[in-house]
Amino acid sequence: PKDLLLKGKKVVVTAGPTRERIDPVRFLTNFSSGKMGYAMAEAAASLGAETILISGPVCINPPSNVTLISVESAKEMYEAVIEQFETASIVIKTAAVADYKPKEIHDQKMKKQPGEATIVLERTTDILAAIGQRKTTQLLIGFAAETNDVTHYAKGKLAKKNADYIIANDVTEEGSGFGTDTNSVTLVGKNDVEIHFDHLPKKELALQLLQTIMKLETAESK
Ligand code: PMT
Repeated sequence: PKDLLLKGKKVVVTAGPTRERIDPVRFLTNFSSGKMGYAMAEAAASLGAETILISGPVCINPPSNVTLISVESAKEMYEAVIEQFETASIVIKTAAVADYKPKEIHDQKMKKQPGEATIVLERTTDILAAIGQRKTTQLLIGFAAETNDVTHYAKGKLAKKNADYIIANDVTEEGSGFGTDTNSVTLVGKNDVEIHFDHLPKKELALQLLQTIMKLETAESK
């Protein structure tokens, strides 16, 4: 039997993309399938955690033994995370949250016009940074999708968002990143922690990441 490393802990995982509406029939989104986030939730539950999975729209089934909260936009995801945050022991932000949303949502379907069309975008709230500001005892684990200088940018996000760990994903690598069943990542954390995990099935990777982080945390509290 697996060590129930997370027994008695509440783990909140976000997963999938967000959808930012333009009009009743159109939206902005990204290629996140939810596979990595769902794997993190499954791993947390298998290690004994009470697991809350806050998910954007995806086409995969939630793992058993997790509570699913379905959301659509970055704003809805923000509200769901804030509601769960205070009672959480660990928050894992795997979701690919939209950084921008249309400034205006049209009530009616936008009609074709001659020439170019412009959609004005405004920033969404950075959920990870917002909870980074509020954190007391919670352990915050973010993900970072990067296309270059992966570890460098991940270290920047660690500091800027006040996270405890960032799991950096090179999304240009073959068999890694959006939509794939496998992933290659580098775990970066305080005390210059930098551990690479090369090309593993997302489910296996999720388990190894959580086991590694819990080991690092126990070593630190000794
Ligand atoms: O879903 P899959 O197809 O399996 O793909 C997995 C993945 C590539 C989506 C995943 O492994 C991943 O890298 N997720 C993070 C993607 C991302 O949005 O990275 P980012 O560098 O833009 O954001 C950094 C962190 O801030 C993330 O934890 C993100 O959840 C968080 N964030 C970002 C913007 C925002 N408005 N609020 C946030 O909380």
